[in-house]
Amino acid sequence: MPKLTIDGKTIEVADGTSVMQACEQLGIEIPHFCYHDKLSVAASCRMCLVEIEKMPKPVPSCAQPCAEGMVVHTDTPAVRKARRAAMELLLINHPLDCPICDQGGECDLQDQAVAYGVSMGRMREPKRAVAEKDFGPLIKTAMTRCIHCTRCVRFVDEICGTPELGGMFRGENLEIGTYVERALTSELSGNLIDLCPVGALTNKPHAFQNRAWEYKKTESVDVLDAVGSNIRIDTCGNEVMRVVPQRNEDVNEDWISDKTRFAIDGLTVQRLDRPYIRKNGKLEPASWDEALALVAEKMHACSPSHVAALAGDLVDCETMFAMKTLLQFIGSPNMDCRQDGASYDVSSRSSYIMNTTIKRLEEADAVLLVGTNPRHEAPMVNARLRKRWLRGGCRIGLVGDPVDLGYPYKHLGDTPDALLSLARDEGDFSAVLKNATKPAFLVGSGALARSDGNAILNVVKMLAEYFNAVREDWNGFNVLQRVASRVGGLDLGFIPQRKGFGTQAVLNGAAEFVWLLGVDELDFKKIGGAFVVYQGHHGDKGAQRADVILPGAAYTEKSATYVNTEGRPQHAWRATFPPGDAREDWKIIHAVADAYGVPLPFKTLEALREKMAEAVPLLATSDSVEKAPWVGAGSIVGVVNVPFTSVIDNFYMTDPISRASATMAKCTRDILPLLKKEGTA
Ligand code: SF4
Ligand code: SF4
Ligand code: FES
Repeated sequence: MPKLTIDGKTIEVADGTSVMQACEQLGIEIPHFCYHDKLSVAASCRMCLVEIEKMPKPVPSCAQPCAEGMVVHTDTPAVRKARRAAMELLLINHPLDCPICDQGGECDLQDQAVAYGVSMGRMREPKRAVAEKDFGPLIKTAMTRCIHCTRCVRFVDEICGTPELGGMFRGENLEIGTYVERALTSELSGNLIDLCPVGALTNKPHAFQNRAWEYKKTESVDVLDAVGSNIRIDTCGNEVMRVVPQRNEDVNEDWISDKTRFAIDGLTVQRLDRPYIRKNGKLEPASWDEALALVAEKMHACSPSHVAALAGDLVDCETMFAMKTLLQFIGSPNMDCRQDGASYDVSSRSSYIMNTTIKRLEEADAVLLVGTNPRHEAPMVNARLRKRWLRGGCRIGLVGDPVDLGYPYKHLGDTPDALLSLARDEGDFSAVLKNATKPAFLVGSGALARSDGNAILNVVKMLAEYFNAVREDWNGFNVLQRVASRVGGLDLGFIPQRKGFGTQAVLNGAAEFVWLLGVDELDFKKIGGAFVVYQGHHGDKGAQRADVILPGAAYTEKSATYVNTEGRPQHAWRATFPPGDAREDWKIIHAVADAYGVPLPFKTLEALREKMAEAVPLLATSDSVEKAPWVGAGSIVGVVNVPFTSVIDNFYMTDPISRASATMAKCTRDILPLLKKEGTA
């Protein structure tokens, strides 16, 4: 714990802290370009120079560890001169592009040139120009603006595990590129846009649209997977213009996946913006009054025991709570939030959440992945696993499809037999798990969304107990959920009630009236002749089967609660209004209840949330994870020894929003074939 003095202030810091980090702790700003706290140190831009007594020259503070008794000066004539010189060198070849540069207004170079640079350059030679490169459909390049900080190179190398970028040529001819020109394939590549301190790498779909200061900014939560990445939604008028990450060290750190960032153009395409009623086999526009009256009439016409509601992957807790309340009022026990048919035991919370938590995965020293491709099912969890692997001292095993995860792992097989071998102490990996102090098990949808899902879940629970992964200080058993609505739905008990039925029975034709809340991934032919109400925001697969369509709001258009795979409730905030006549989903359910003649016990969102908190108190919390009591493994009878398969065929199109996105369609066309060729997808 060295103690040092910076600008006359004394501070004691942890071993290994750099002078720049110590300055940050004291609130002293040090200009920098190449340094990023999540990347290795390159110390190449020299913008962070400071003076340290007894050292002959200014030193880069990002690369200088603090030492006992050090005396640092961050604002002396020599430091100011050094910064001006560094800035002058950086600007020698930098174009005068600000008026046409998408980075304008949020550019580190612009800001630091104003704060630390000089108003005149002395170079009269022509500036160099670098040809634009094609990095695929997501990232626009203007490499003449590149200042060679190498943040992008380090990011794809260290965080993504796809070392696709590098420096080519020497000296003044240095260029950053992909060597052989082709699209970047990392599912995290969009983060390069935020990382690049200048306008060399910018958001291609968002090119030349608006300036950063023109946007209304709304903090929210992503729902396109079950990680619950924290995001900021930038809007102009009633349109979502872009999505950028919000730092949450416990969840997504500083990153988001490309689907989270770029699928937003799907929010305006194929939208359901008015109610529809099927007449003579064709869906025809209708008024809200007509649609509500018809839904109420059809519900009255059939016995409550034949009314069922299913919730899709993007549905929020408030909507499911409102739906469950309505079903309870009319006396129907038939509901399910698992459209993939997963039917494992959900009576204990520790059986369906990620007990270890995403952040504490960094403590694991052995990890077993079962029936999952976390790179595509939960990219931010995969980034954590890679981070953990990179630090060393962690072995990773996989039972399932042998895909490229961005880090090495031992493939133990692709059938449940491989799990049972571990329990019999067969193979090297069994010894790895036995010797680990904090083993972690992650079981995914590929293992659970099948007929023997419950038995597989119990096998993994049994392994977790056998390898001492469930203790007071550590719970290494994790279910890696894939969809945003699942944990919230299970917390709310949106599953078949006593004597009720769920997805499978609906698919066997058990229901006469089916209410689909954003359900689009079913084999709708199996529903039979039931009367189908589709409530959702996109004219996707579910809407095509509907007899009545009730247009709802997408995740950017409502304030709602989602619970991520760790069991962390988080609030999304409304950034725009639903289009046309579409309404917030809980209000639609409330309106149907009114038409049916049952008064729901809430009239406002706040009142609904109060009732929801009474029913499930943890949903009243925000951004925290409650430890779930452990319930041991149940029966493993019924395991079928067939291979686990990947549940995601195309990472870029997994839900109605991304399927409607033109950008995701371009990724499917340009990037997916590269991934398939390399065995990543
Ligand atoms: Fe201007 Fe920054 Fe763009 Fe360079 S990168 S042209 S300084 S806005
Ligand atoms: Fe740095 Fe951007 Fe150049 Fe990459 S492209 S080296 S991030 S300036
Ligand atoms: Fe220290 Fe670039 S930030 S040298």
